[in-house]
Amino acid sequence: MDKRIIAAATLLSILSVPTWAETPAQSTEDLVTEARGKVKAFGGSLKQALQAAIKEGGLTNGIGVCNTVAPEIAANNSSEEWTISRTSLKVRNPDNAPTDWQKLQLLAMDKQPVKNGKPVEVWQVSDAAGQPTFQYMSAIPTQELCLGCHGKNIDPEVKAKLAELYPNDQATGFSEGDLRGAFVVTYQPSTK
Ligand code: HEC
Repeated sequence: MDKRIIAAATLLSILSVPTWAETPAQSTEDLVTEARGKVKAFGGSLKQALQAAIKEGGLTNGIGVCNTVAPEIAANNSSEEWTISRTSLKVRNPDNAPTDWQKLQLLAMDKQPVKNGKPVEVWQVSDAAGQPTFQYMSAIPTQELCLGCHGKNIDPEVKAKLAELYPNDQATGFSEGDLRGAFVVTYQPSTK
């Protein structure tokens, strides 16, 4: 490559580094590590709560966990700067609908949810207005545990409860291994 081009590219990359990168503690690598930790905590707590609720009162009881406890656990793992949520190409709750960027990532993940035995992950750093500074996504493959509420053969009682809570439910018909959705972690440094 021409030396001048390299110099220009280097200068551009320096200029486009968002201001938060001035704090060495907030390198992209650190943000990714933090995001992974949040997904692990949120995903782990949610699965535990779901399994306990199903064991106690069956799938209809489990729906309550996903309906009310999932947003609570998400809130507990979020802060002023960090948020964690879930999204999907086929949402049960319309509040979980993806943004344009998230939809693009989901379409790619849908073709290959798992790579080298790990859920596919992706992130971006942005300085565009209205966008979180840092955004991370990690694929959620469908597991056997999910099929009772997201699979092809849903018990009529469970179906009725879901229809009551989610009249526009699109999140059924999945098989084990299909992409169910993704965790989304965002970081937006506080301006205060
Ligand atoms: C007991 C029923 C039940 C089971 C089992 C269940 N879910 Fe769900 N799931 C729900 C409900 C209800 C919602 C809607 C939650 C809300 O209102 O935000 C939901 C929402 C989701 C969402 C958010 C996107 C959307 O569609 O709104 C994802 C992702 C998801 N589930 C993945 C899973 C995975 C992965 C499993 C298995 C590990 C699983 N679910 C098992 C009932 C269930």
